[in-house]
Amino acid sequence: MSVPSFGVGTFRLTGQTVIDSVRSALELGYRAVDTAQIYGNEADVGQAIAESGVERAELFVTTKIWTDNYARNTLVPSLRESLTKLRTDYVDLTLIHWPAPGNGVELVEYMTALAEAKALGLTRQIGISNFNIELTRQAIAAVGKDEIATNQIELSPYLQSHTLTAFLKEQRITVTSYMTLAYGKILKDPVLAQIADKHQATVAQVALAWALQLGYAVIPSSTRRENLASNLLARDLRLDADDMTRIALLERNGREVSPEGLAPVWD
Ligand SMILES: NC(=O)c1ccc[n+]([C@@H]2O[C@H](COP(=O)([O-])OP(=O)(O)OC[C@H]3O[C@@H](n4cnc5c(N)ncnc54)[C@H](OP(=O)(O)O)[C@@H]3O)[C@@H](O)[C@H]2O)c1
Repeated sequence: MSVPSFGVGTFRLTGQTVIDSVRSALELGYRAVDTAQIYGNEADVGQAIAESGVERAELFVTTKIWTDNYARNTLVPSLRESLTKLRTDYVDLTLIHWPAPGNGVELVEYMTALAEAKALGLTRQIGISNFNIELTRQAIAAVGKDEIATNQIELSPYLQSHTLTAFLKEQRITVTSYMTLAYGKILKDPVLAQIADKHQATVAQVALAWALQLGYAVIPSSTRRENLASNLLARDLRLDADDMTRIALLERNGREVSPEGLAPVWD
Protein backbone atom coordinates (compact mmCIF):
# COMPACT_ATOMS: atom_id res chain seq x y z
CA MET A 1 0.00 0.00 0.00
CA SER A 2 1.25 3.44 -0.90
CA VAL A 3 -0.59 5.12 1.98
CA PRO A 4 -0.55 3.92 5.60
CA SER A 5 -3.60 1.85 6.51
CA PHE A 6 -4.22 3.68 9.80
CA GLY A 7 -4.08 7.37 10.55
CA VAL A 8 -5.77 10.02 12.63
CA GLY A 9 -8.25 12.52 11.19
CA THR A 10 -8.53 16.17 12.25
CA PHE A 11 -11.69 17.51 10.59
CA ARG A 12 -13.62 20.01 12.81
CA LEU A 13 -10.80 20.12 15.37
CA THR A 14 -8.85 23.32 15.91
CA GLY A 15 -6.70 25.04 18.54
CA GLN A 16 -5.85 23.17 21.71
CA THR A 17 -8.36 20.42 20.88
CA VAL A 18 -6.50 19.35 17.75
CA ILE A 19 -3.10 19.87 19.36
CA ASP A 20 -4.12 17.51 22.19
CA SER A 21 -5.69 15.00 19.81
CA VAL A 22 -2.67 14.79 17.50
CA ARG A 23 -0.25 14.77 20.44
CA SER A 24 -2.14 11.86 22.07
CA ALA A 25 -2.37 10.00 18.76
CA LEU A 26 1.39 10.29 18.20
CA GLU A 27 2.10 9.18 21.77
CA LEU A 28 -0.16 6.17 21.24
CA GLY A 29 1.70 5.12 18.10
CA TYR A 30 -0.24 6.72 15.24
CA ARG A 31 2.17 7.81 12.53
CA ALA A 32 -0.19 9.21 9.90
CA VAL A 33 -2.10 12.49 10.28
CA ASP A 34 -4.80 13.77 7.92
CA THR A 35 -5.44 17.49 7.65
CA ALA A 36 -6.62 19.95 4.98
CA GLN A 37 -6.24 23.62 4.13
CA ILE A 38 -9.93 24.24 4.81
CA TYR A 39 -9.78 22.69 8.30
CA GLY A 40 -7.90 25.79 9.45
CA ASN A 41 -5.74 23.63 11.70
CA GLU A 42 -2.53 23.01 9.74
CA ALA A 43 -0.55 25.30 12.06
CA ASP A 44 -1.95 23.50 15.13
CA VAL A 45 -1.16 20.12 13.60
CA GLY A 46 2.34 21.41 12.80
CA GLN A 47 2.77 22.50 16.40
CA ALA A 48 1.62 19.13 17.75
CA ILE A 49 3.99 17.29 15.42
CA ALA A 50 6.92 19.56 16.29
CA GLU A 51 6.29 19.14 20.02
CA SER A 52 5.86 15.36 19.77
CA GLY A 53 9.53 14.75 19.12
CA VAL A 54 8.65 12.08 16.54
CA GLU A 55 11.11 12.14 13.64
CA ARG A 56 9.66 13.64 10.47
CA ALA A 57 10.78 10.60 8.46
CA GLU A 58 8.58 8.36 10.62
CA LEU A 59 5.47 10.40 9.91
CA PHE A 60 3.02 10.43 7.04
CA VAL A 61 1.33 13.81 6.73
CA THR A 62 -1.57 14.36 4.35
CA THR A 63 -3.10 17.68 3.43
CA LYS A 64 -5.74 18.66 0.89
CA ILE A 65 -5.87 21.63 -1.45
CA TRP A 66 -8.97 23.77 -1.01
CA THR A 67 -11.07 24.69 -4.04
CA ASP A 68 -9.99 28.39 -3.96
CA ASN A 69 -6.45 27.26 -4.72
CA TYR A 70 -7.01 25.07 -7.79
CA ALA A 71 -5.68 27.50 -10.40
CA ARG A 72 -2.28 26.73 -11.91
CA ASN A 73 -0.63 29.83 -10.38
CA THR A 74 -2.25 29.35 -6.95
CA LEU A 75 -2.01 25.65 -6.12
CA VAL A 76 1.75 25.42 -5.59
CA PRO A 77 2.01 28.66 -3.54
CA SER A 78 -0.91 27.48 -1.39
CA LEU A 79 0.85 24.19 -0.73
CA ARG A 80 4.02 26.06 0.21
CA GLU A 81 1.93 27.97 2.73
CA SER A 82 0.58 24.68 4.10
CA LEU A 83 4.15 23.42 4.50
CA THR A 84 5.09 26.53 6.47
CA LYS A 85 2.11 26.03 8.77
CA LEU A 86 2.87 22.33 9.15
CA ARG A 87 6.55 23.20 9.84
CA THR A 88 7.84 20.76 7.27
CA ASP A 89 9.65 20.83 3.91
CA TYR A 90 7.27 18.34 2.32
CA VAL A 91 4.04 16.51 2.93
CA ASP A 92 3.72 12.83 2.18
CA LEU A 93 0.44 13.13 0.34
CA THR A 94 -1.53 16.02 -1.13
CA LEU A 95 -5.10 15.55 -2.30
CA ILE A 96 -7.49 17.59 -4.37
CA HIS A 97 -10.20 17.99 -1.71
CA TRP A 98 -13.31 18.00 -3.93
CA PRO A 99 -13.67 17.80 -7.70
CA ALA A 100 -15.72 21.05 -7.57
CA PRO A 101 -17.08 20.94 -11.08
CA GLY A 102 -17.95 24.42 -12.24
CA ASN A 103 -15.68 26.39 -9.92
CA GLY A 104 -13.91 27.79 -12.96
CA VAL A 105 -10.78 25.63 -13.02
CA GLU A 106 -10.69 22.59 -15.25
CA LEU A 107 -9.71 19.23 -13.78
CA VAL A 108 -6.74 18.92 -16.10
CA GLU A 109 -5.39 22.26 -14.84
CA TYR A 110 -5.52 21.43 -11.13
CA MET A 111 -4.28 17.86 -11.62
CA THR A 112 -1.34 19.14 -13.67
CA ALA A 113 -0.56 21.75 -11.00
CA LEU A 114 -0.70 19.02 -8.35
CA ALA A 115 1.71 16.85 -10.36
CA GLU A 116 3.98 19.89 -10.62
CA ALA A 117 3.94 20.22 -6.81
CA LYS A 118 5.15 16.64 -6.62
CA ALA A 119 7.87 17.27 -9.21
CA LEU A 120 9.02 20.23 -7.08
CA GLY A 121 9.39 17.91 -4.08
CA LEU A 122 6.68 19.65 -2.04
CA THR A 123 4.71 16.42 -1.74
CA ARG A 124 5.88 12.82 -2.03
CA GLN A 125 2.60 11.55 -3.43
CA ILE A 126 -0.57 13.02 -4.86
CA GLY A 127 -4.17 11.91 -4.94
CA ILE A 128 -7.81 12.83 -5.10
CA SER A 129 -10.75 12.97 -2.74
CA ASN A 130 -14.49 12.70 -3.33
CA PHE A 131 -14.00 11.77 -6.99
CA ASN A 132 -16.54 9.55 -8.76
CA ILE A 133 -15.55 7.01 -11.42
CA GLU A 134 -15.77 9.40 -14.37
CA LEU A 135 -13.70 12.11 -12.65
CA THR A 136 -11.18 9.53 -11.46
CA ARG A 137 -10.82 8.44 -15.08
CA GLN A 138 -10.21 12.07 -16.07
CA ALA A 139 -7.63 12.47 -13.30
CA ILE A 140 -5.86 9.34 -14.54
CA ALA A 141 -5.91 10.69 -18.08
CA ALA A 142 -4.44 13.99 -16.85
CA VAL A 143 -1.49 12.69 -14.83
CA GLY A 144 -1.28 8.90 -15.29
CA LYS A 145 -2.69 6.08 -13.16
CA ASP A 146 0.48 5.40 -11.23
CA GLU A 147 0.55 9.00 -10.02
CA ILE A 148 -2.69 8.72 -8.06
CA ALA A 149 -1.97 7.20 -4.66
CA THR A 150 -5.51 7.23 -3.29
CA ASN A 151 -9.07 8.41 -3.65
CA GLN A 152 -10.21 9.46 -0.18
CA ILE A 153 -13.97 8.94 -0.01
CA GLU A 154 -16.76 8.77 2.52
CA LEU A 155 -17.18 5.09 3.28
CA SER A 156 -18.78 3.35 6.25
CA PRO A 157 -20.90 0.25 6.91
CA TYR A 158 -23.85 2.46 5.94
CA LEU A 159 -22.23 3.74 2.72
CA GLN A 160 -20.18 1.02 1.08
CA SER A 161 -19.83 2.50 -2.45
CA HIS A 162 -19.46 -0.88 -4.15
CA THR A 163 -19.26 0.38 -7.73
CA LEU A 164 -16.64 3.03 -7.02
CA THR A 165 -14.49 0.81 -4.80
CA ALA A 166 -14.57 -2.01 -7.38
CA PHE A 167 -13.35 0.46 -10.02
CA LEU A 168 -10.59 1.79 -7.75
CA LYS A 169 -9.46 -1.74 -6.95
CA GLU A 170 -9.29 -2.53 -10.66
CA GLN A 171 -7.15 0.62 -11.14
CA ARG A 172 -5.01 -0.29 -8.10
CA ILE A 173 -5.80 3.03 -6.48
CA THR A 174 -5.95 2.74 -2.69
CA VAL A 175 -9.29 3.57 -1.13
CA THR A 176 -9.07 5.77 1.96
CA SER A 177 -12.29 5.58 3.95
CA TYR A 178 -13.22 8.78 5.70
CA MET A 179 -16.01 8.93 8.26
CA THR A 180 -15.75 5.16 8.69
CA LEU A 181 -17.83 5.67 11.85
CA ALA A 182 -20.30 7.87 9.90
CA TYR A 183 -19.37 10.57 12.42
CA GLY A 184 -20.68 8.36 15.21
CA LYS A 185 -23.95 7.25 13.54
CA ILE A 186 -22.97 3.60 13.25
CA LEU A 187 -22.05 3.35 16.93
CA LYS A 188 -25.57 2.41 17.98
CA ASP A 189 -26.10 -0.18 15.27
CA PRO A 190 -27.49 -3.42 16.79
CA VAL A 191 -25.83 -5.76 14.28
CA LEU A 192 -22.43 -4.13 14.81
CA ALA A 193 -23.06 -4.30 18.57
CA GLN A 194 -23.67 -8.07 18.35
CA ILE A 195 -20.48 -8.58 16.36
CA ALA A 196 -18.60 -6.40 18.85
CA ASP A 197 -19.92 -8.48 21.78
CA LYS A 198 -18.89 -11.69 20.08
CA HIS A 199 -15.30 -10.44 19.79
CA GLN A 200 -15.28 -8.49 23.06
CA ALA A 201 -14.53 -5.44 20.98
CA THR A 202 -16.12 -2.00 20.56
CA VAL A 203 -18.48 -1.10 17.72
CA ALA A 204 -15.94 1.43 16.44
CA GLN A 205 -13.28 -1.28 16.32
CA VAL A 206 -15.63 -3.54 14.35
CA ALA A 207 -16.32 -0.85 11.75
CA LEU A 208 -12.63 0.02 11.42
CA ALA A 209 -11.58 -3.66 11.24
CA TRP A 210 -14.23 -4.24 8.56
CA ALA A 211 -12.78 -1.41 6.42
CA LEU A 212 -9.20 -2.57 7.00
CA GLN A 213 -10.10 -6.14 6.03
CA LEU A 214 -11.52 -4.84 2.76
CA GLY A 215 -8.13 -3.26 2.10
CA TYR A 216 -9.10 0.35 2.81
CA ALA A 217 -7.04 2.86 4.74
CA VAL A 218 -8.86 4.54 7.66
CA ILE A 219 -8.42 7.90 9.42
CA PRO A 220 -10.86 8.04 12.35
CA SER A 221 -10.75 11.17 14.49
CA SER A 222 -11.33 11.57 18.18
CA THR A 223 -10.96 14.21 20.84
CA ARG A 224 -10.62 11.49 23.50
CA ARG A 225 -7.38 9.71 24.20
CA GLU A 226 -9.18 6.49 25.20
CA ASN A 227 -11.04 6.41 21.88
CA LEU A 228 -7.83 7.09 19.94
CA ALA A 229 -6.20 4.20 21.82
CA SER A 230 -9.04 1.73 21.38
CA ASN A 231 -9.56 2.63 17.70
CA LEU A 232 -5.94 1.73 17.00
CA LEU A 233 -6.55 -1.75 18.41
CA ALA A 234 -8.94 -2.40 15.49
CA ARG A 235 -5.77 -3.46 13.67
CA ASP A 236 -5.67 -6.59 15.86
CA LEU A 237 -9.32 -7.55 15.42
CA ARG A 238 -10.06 -10.31 12.88
CA LEU A 239 -13.64 -10.48 11.67
CA ASP A 240 -14.83 -13.79 10.21
CA ALA A 241 -16.68 -14.32 6.93
CA ASP A 242 -20.04 -14.33 8.69
CA ASP A 243 -19.28 -10.96 10.36
CA MET A 244 -18.22 -9.49 7.01
CA THR A 245 -21.42 -10.73 5.33
CA ARG A 246 -23.61 -9.29 8.05
CA ILE A 247 -21.88 -5.92 7.78
CA ALA A 248 -22.22 -5.98 3.98
CA LEU A 249 -25.99 -6.13 4.51
CA LEU A 250 -25.97 -2.85 6.47
CA GLU A 251 -25.51 -0.82 3.25
CA ARG A 252 -28.16 1.92 3.02
CA ASN A 253 -26.55 4.65 0.90
CA GLY A 254 -26.09 6.57 4.14
CA ARG A 255 -24.11 9.50 2.86
CA GLU A 256 -23.34 12.24 5.40
CA VAL A 257 -21.43 14.71 3.22
CA SER A 258 -22.30 16.03 -0.23
CA PRO A 259 -21.76 19.78 -0.49
CA GLU A 260 -23.53 21.40 -3.41
CA GLY A 261 -21.18 22.71 -6.08
CA LEU A 262 -18.26 20.66 -4.76
CA ALA A 263 -19.53 17.08 -4.90
CA PRO A 264 -19.74 15.06 -8.10
CA VAL A 265 -22.75 13.03 -9.22
CA TRP A 266 -22.13 9.99 -7.03
CA ASP A 267 -21.87 6.54 -8.64
N1 LIG B 1 -11.83 14.20 2.26
C1 LIG B 1 -12.90 14.70 2.81
O1 LIG B 1 -13.71 15.40 2.18
C2 LIG B 1 -13.18 14.40 4.25
C3 LIG B 1 -14.46 14.65 4.78
C4 LIG B 1 -14.67 14.34 6.13
C5 LIG B 1 -13.65 13.80 6.88
N2 LIG B 1 -12.41 13.60 6.35
C6 LIG B 1 -11.29 13.08 7.17
O2 LIG B 1 -11.71 11.87 7.78
C7 LIG B 1 -11.54 11.96 9.18
C8 LIG B 1 -12.58 11.10 9.88
O3 LIG B 1 -13.88 11.62 9.70
P1 LIG B 1 -14.70 12.34 10.88
O4 LIG B 1 -13.74 12.83 11.88
O5 LIG B 1 -15.57 13.34 10.24
O6 LIG B 1 -15.64 11.22 11.40
P2 LIG B 1 -15.44 9.78 12.09
O7 LIG B 1 -14.01 9.45 12.26
O8 LIG B 1 -16.37 8.85 11.38
O9 LIG B 1 -16.11 10.03 13.49
C9 LIG B 1 -15.57 10.89 14.44
C10 LIG B 1 -16.57 10.95 15.58
O10 LIG B 1 -16.66 9.66 16.17
C11 LIG B 1 -16.38 9.75 17.56
N3 LIG B 1 -15.55 8.61 17.92
C12 LIG B 1 -14.32 8.30 17.44
N4 LIG B 1 -13.88 7.15 17.97
C13 LIG B 1 -14.85 6.73 18.81
C14 LIG B 1 -14.98 5.62 19.66
N5 LIG B 1 -14.04 4.70 19.74
N6 LIG B 1 -16.12 5.51 20.40
C15 LIG B 1 -17.09 6.44 20.32
N7 LIG B 1 -17.02 7.51 19.53
C16 LIG B 1 -15.91 7.66 18.79
C17 LIG B 1 -15.68 11.06 17.77
O11 LIG B 1 -16.09 11.60 19.00
P3 LIG B 1 -15.02 11.78 20.23
O12 LIG B 1 -14.19 12.95 19.84
O13 LIG B 1 -15.94 12.04 21.38
O14 LIG B 1 -14.24 10.51 20.34
C18 LIG B 1 -16.21 11.93 16.64
O15 LIG B 1 -17.40 12.55 17.05
C19 LIG B 1 -11.67 13.46 9.44
O16 LIG B 1 -11.22 13.82 10.71
C20 LIG B 1 -10.90 14.02 8.29
O17 LIG B 1 -9.51 13.98 8.56
C21 LIG B 1 -12.16 13.88 5.04
